[in-house]
Amino acid sequence: MSKNPTPLDRVREYEREQAMKVSADERPLFHLTPLVGWMNDPNGFCWYKGQYHLFYQYHPFSRQWGPMHWGHAVSEDLLHWTYMPCALAPDTAADAGGCFSGSAVEMPDGRLLLAYTGVQPAGTFRRETQAQCVAVGDGIDFEKSLLNPVVRHAHLPEGYSEFDFRDPKIWREGDVYQMAVANRHEEKQGAILLMESRDGLDWHFVAELDASCNEYGRMWECPDFFPIDGKQALLVSPQEMHAREEFHAGYGTVAILGQYDKKEHTFTRESVQPVDHGLTFYASQTTLAPDGRRILIGWMDSWETCKEAPRRHPWYAQMSMPREVFIENGRLCQRPVREIETLWQDAVRHDHVTLQDEISLPGVNGRLLDLNVTLNAQGSACRRFTLLVAKDASHYVQIRCDLARGELVFDRSHGGSHRDIAHTRHVKAEEREGKLTLRLLMDKESIELFVNGGERVVTSLIPTPLEADGITFAADAPIDLSVEAHHLK
Ligand code: FRU
Repeated sequence: MSKNPTPLDRVREYEREQAMKVSADERPLFHLTPLVGWMNDPNGFCWYKGQYHLFYQYHPFSRQWGPMHWGHAVSEDLLHWTYMPCALAPDTAADAGGCFSGSAVEMPDGRLLLAYTGVQPAGTFRRETQAQCVAVGDGIDFEKSLLNPVVRHAHLPEGYSEFDFRDPKIWREGDVYQMAVANRHEEKQGAILLMESRDGLDWHFVAELDASCNEYGRMWECPDFFPIDGKQALLVSPQEMHAREEFHAGYGTVAILGQYDKKEHTFTRESVQPVDHGLTFYASQTTLAPDGRRILIGWMDSWETCKEAPRRHPWYAQMSMPREVFIENGRLCQRPVREIETLWQDAVRHDHVTLQDEISLPGVNGRLLDLNVTLNAQGSACRRFTLLVAKDASHYVQIRCDLARGELVFDRSHGGSHRDIAHTRHVKAEEREGKLTLRLLMDKESIELFVNGGERVVTSLIPTPLEADGITFAADAPIDLSVEAHHLK
């Protein structure tokens, strides 16, 4: 280390020491965890110079949220990640209170531009404020602009907040940079604003893309805005939602689908749905893969429960599985990135088993599994199908399908938690031409459930001991069941 180490040098030194102490076995197989300490939102997700880069909200020095840094990892397949040195530390006047969430885009000259929220700490007569900063680099080292913060409250029309103003998502549109950034308007509450710049430094306000108007929560965080299969998607993570329709109360994820007039900068809503229905999914962000797939990743945790969650490892929290998103029947759907197939081992198939009562199937067990279940309900009197996973004598996680109501209940109440928190989610799961399909991706302490080819997704951490690896299937009347399981390595 140099004689006068900067705060970032110190973090990087600490990372080098800590990296040796954590073995790969102590981590999930294919979900990204922080090198050490705490992680929340994915940031700066991009494909840059032949690799995916994923940055993350990071507090290296403890397993609780603290002064925010940007951690960094790279991958070629979205499954195996290599840690890179910490990218940003809160070390300038513009971000002394933290380098909050943001995004990345390649510049025309080949450098990488990071846009993030600089938090300016409270003073004696001032509350903490938020504004947008930029840093430019080669994919490893980044230099913050001396002009930071480059997007300030003063750029905005009246009514928008300087306290809740964060999480810039940037992209290039022709030869200009555009940014969708979250704010909280004094009447409309959560709002997403469009900003524009020719050089990434000099920004101006263009339009408000959409606002909650108290329908979908209060503050909106972590926006993303992209075209997909003939529609435009605006993704936001609202705080303080009231339960309504398919949305649960509290922190949520919302996809607003609509049409976007690029010239007029007007976004017209057509439909609104949750991105993920699970217990632990938030702050998602997407990037475009070189082959044109739109890939989504989220923080696989929840602000409602993370503080008290067990700290069993030198790191805390993980990212979700990266997912390909697509539109089907007017909904934003997701499937695990197809790269997962490179981890498949020992395929086990059981075709057309007539299920009744509770059974287990030879070879179908484990906590590292890509499990596909197809129920063919045609002609069956079965009303209730129950799948138990992560099961032993005292634990199980239950996925219960009520075929008459077209509803699924995900229930981790017996998954090993000692806390009185939400453990269940109810999700629509209707048969499609007599069939219901469930795909479960299990990576030790997490389950991601894709219903009917990804029309609904339920993501949940489970605290269940890893020895609980049994799986059983049960039905209240005979039903045709097919199972394909791939162990993952
Ligand atoms: C969302 C969020 C962001 C913020 C970051 C701070 O989870 O609250 O709005 O930038 O976390 O760590």
